[in-house]
Amino acid sequence: MEYLKIIRTEVSRKSGIDYSNLGFGKFFSDHQFVVDYDNGAWGDPRIEPYGPMAIEPANCTLHYGQTIFEGMKAYRSAKGGVNLFRPSMNAKRMNNSARAVCIPEIDEELFVDGIRELIRVDHSFIPNERGHSLYLRPFAFGTGNFLGVTASSQYRFMVITSPVASYYAEGLNPVRIKVDEEHIRAVRGGLGQAKTAANYAASLYAGMQAKKEGFAQVLFLEAVTRNFVDEIGAMNIMFVIDGELITPPLTQGSILPGVTRDSVLQLGRHWGLKVSERSIGIDEIAEAHRAGKLQEAFGTGTAAVISPVGEFVHRGDSMVINNRQIGPIAQKFYDTITGIQYGELDDPFGWVETIDIEESVSA
Ligand SMILES: Cc1ncc(COP(=O)(O)O)c(C=O)c1O
Repeated sequence: MEYLKIIRTEVSRKSGIDYSNLGFGKFFSDHQFVVDYDNGAWGDPRIEPYGPMAIEPANCTLHYGQTIFEGMKAYRSAKGGVNLFRPSMNAKRMNNSARAVCIPEIDEELFVDGIRELIRVDHSFIPNERGHSLYLRPFAFGTGNFLGVTASSQYRFMVITSPVASYYAEGLNPVRIKVDEEHIRAVRGGLGQAKTAANYAASLYAGMQAKKEGFAQVLFLEAVTRNFVDEIGAMNIMFVIDGELITPPLTQGSILPGVTRDSVLQLGRHWGLKVSERSIGIDEIAEAHRAGKLQEAFGTGTAAVISPVGEFVHRGDSMVINNRQIGPIAQKFYDTITGIQYGELDDPFGWVETIDIEESVSA
């Protein structure tokens, strides 16, 4: 990266990190990657110590939510070095999100190179344990100070990183999901296809209610029919019905195009599964369940990779799936995708990009 300035921290945060109890998103590495936008252009990037930023009370993002983010991971590869998984998909999705809320696009190369350089500086924070990783959080937001609903003229793009444990401390436990007919996360013509704060704010109340009722998550329905399924708050959803792998199509207009979703669909087709991207109603799912044809259901996302569903509850009716056990198809996707991410399995689609850490340390 040509104009990258690196200011290293004098006091490492490492001693404050409890590697035996990492959880998710609780600890942060020493440095952050920062680029500011002003006068119509992104400026020179820098890496600096992670820390608080001064924000004026009139910061437009605090009021109007002009902010987007990404979520990805860096894995210690069994072959040496550090693996990123399909980072250009995240870079492209970041720009789809940027367009949706009028944030200037970020050069794909700047996005991926910035992440690479940040990992080179903070690679010692990546946990060694299989299943653990360094979660990467690129994000961008308006930095203008004004009141009034209009797009900012100034922005900041940043990347912070967080060592995280495996989502499954005790194996892949199928979860209980509430099918919520009342609350809507996103609607066609809105922001559902973008990774922007508003969608997550919209999901908080429903998620909190569901947790109080003993559910792990909410399955949101499409706003108009209140029948077609959309996605789980931070995961896409897949069903196996009578041998067919089914997931709602992105054309439904309110679904985030997940990197894991796309990887599962490609792998499924590669394995010769019947794969369908089509709208599917909760009525069809209930009917398949009654007929004994609903074999598996699982969420897909970077954090958990595959999250099997053990039970849906819809209008008080329970649908228990596969006796609350993970199914063979979900297990195979989990094993294959994580095997590729950790450099243990062949990578037939060229999904992995390896960062050579030794080289950069001696450079
Ligand atoms: C709303 C939503 N849907 C789906 C996903 C899954 O996307 P990915 O597989 O790229 O992590 C995420 C997580 O990023 C999400 O926030």
